[in-house]
Amino acid sequence: MIPESEYFKRRAKLVNVLKPNSLCLLLAAEYKVRSNDSEYPYRQNSNFYYLSGFKEDQSALLFLKKNKKTKTILFVAKKDKLQELWNGKRCGIKRAKKLFDVDEVYGFDELEEKLALFTQEKKHLYFDFANQAFAKKYLRNYLKSIKHIHNIAPHIEQLRLIKSDAEIKLIKKAISITKEAHHRAMTKAKELRFEYELQAELEYEFKKNGAYSDAYTSIVACGNAANTLHYISNNKALKKGELILIDAGCEYEYYASDITRTIPASGKFSKEQKELYEMVLEVQLRILSMIKPGVKRSELQKEAVKLLTKGMIDLGILQGSIKHNIKKEKYKKYYPHGIGHWMGLDVHDEAPYKNKKGEEIPLFERMVLTIEPGIYLPKDDKNIPKKYRGVGIRIEDDVLITKDGYENLSAGIAKSVEEIEELS
Ligand code: GLY
Ligand code: MN
Ligand code: MN
Repeated sequence: MIPESEYFKRRAKLVNVLKPNSLCLLLAAEYKVRSNDSEYPYRQNSNFYYLSGFKEDQSALLFLKKNKKTKTILFVAKKDKLQELWNGKRCGIKRAKKLFDVDEVYGFDELEEKLALFTQEKKHLYFDFANQAFAKKYLRNYLKSIKHIHNIAPHIEQLRLIKSDAEIKLIKKAISITKEAHHRAMTKAKELRFEYELQAELEYEFKKNGAYSDAYTSIVACGNAANTLHYISNNKALKKGELILIDAGCEYEYYASDITRTIPASGKFSKEQKELYEMVLEVQLRILSMIKPGVKRSELQKEAVKLLTKGMIDLGILQGSIKHNIKKEKYKKYYPHGIGHWMGLDVHDEAPYKNKKGEEIPLFERMVLTIEPGIYLPKDDKNIPKKYRGVGIRIEDDVLITKDGYENLSAGIAKSVEEIEELS
C-alpha cells in the first residue's frame, strides 16, 4: 500500500508548479453507464488517485494558492444511510479528516458553493483537460472571469513518470499475478476449445489472486486473429497447429501489468513457428540488452526496426537490402507499432515522451516501460512465404530502469521455446 505521507509529498510537488493566486481542481471519475441503469465497475481517475489515494466517486481535490501558501481541500460524499444501503459504506467527512493529511474536508455537495467563494480574485485556474466536460460542469461560471486557464494534467503526468519504491512494489505484485495467469494459460491451452475459455483461465487467476480487474481487455488471438492488433472478441476456436497470441495483464491496487506471450495451441511449436518465434525473441533480447539510463526509446525502436527487418529478410518475408526496406518502410506492414510505452497507474501511462522543448525524454532511473517487438503476417498476404502466413507473434515484458541498467520485472514468465513447451 502507498502511505498517506507519499500522497502528501506528491501534492506538495504539484503545488510547486502552481502560479501564485491560483485555484486547481481535480475531480474523481464518474460512474459510466453500461446500458440502461447498469454501470461499468467503477475505476478512479488515475491523476486524481495519484494525488489523493481516494477511491470513491463524488470527490474532488482543490488546491488554493495565494502567494507561497497553499491550502489543500478534499471534498468527499457525505455519509448517507440510504445510499450506503444500496452501494456500500462511504468514508464520509469525519473519517476523511483523520485519514488524509489535507487542510480541510467538505462534503462534495458543497463544492459549487465553495468554488464560488474561492474563485474570487483568482488569476489562474487549473484543471485536467482530459476531464473537460465534467470539470466545466463545476467551473462553467468561472471560465470567463478567470484570466488564465491551464491544463494541470502534464504536471501530474511528469510526476507519474518516476516510480517510488511503493509503486514499484505494486507493479511487481501485478506482474507476479499476471505470471501465474500466463503460466496457467500455457498449461491449459492444449485442452481448451475456444479463445474465450483461455481468457477465462487468465482472468480467473487475476481475480483469485486479488487483482480487482484486468489492466486492459485481454487479447487471446489464435492464428490469423493475432494480426488484428487490438483483437478482443476472443471468440474463435483454438486450432491445433496454430499459435495463440495472449496479451493480458491484471491491475493490482490501481497499478498495471502488460504482458504478451505467444504460445502453440498444441503445446509444441512447428519448425516454421519456431523460426519466426525465435527471430522475434532474439530481437527482444537484443533490445532489452540496450536498456540503461540515457538511452532513448526512439533508439530502441530504430534498432528493433533494423533487427526485425533483417530477420524478415533472412526468412524470405521481405526482399532486398535492410537499408531499402527501412527507407521504403516495407517493414511497417509487418511491424506497425512502437517498441513500448510507459506503464504505471495506466497500462499506457499518461506520462510525457517529450520535454517542454519538444525533445525526447531519455530513459532514467525508476521509469517503467514495456518492450514488445512483434511481427504480424496476415494469411492473405501473397508476398509472405506460404508456410509463415496467418501468424502473429509479439513478446512483451515490463521493465524497470535502474541506476545503471534495467530489471526485467517479468523475467520469471516462461518465454523461450523450451520453457513454454515444458509448461504446455
Ligand atoms: N496491451 C496493450 C499494449 O500492449 O500496448
Ligand atoms: Mn504494451
Ligand atoms: Mn500488451
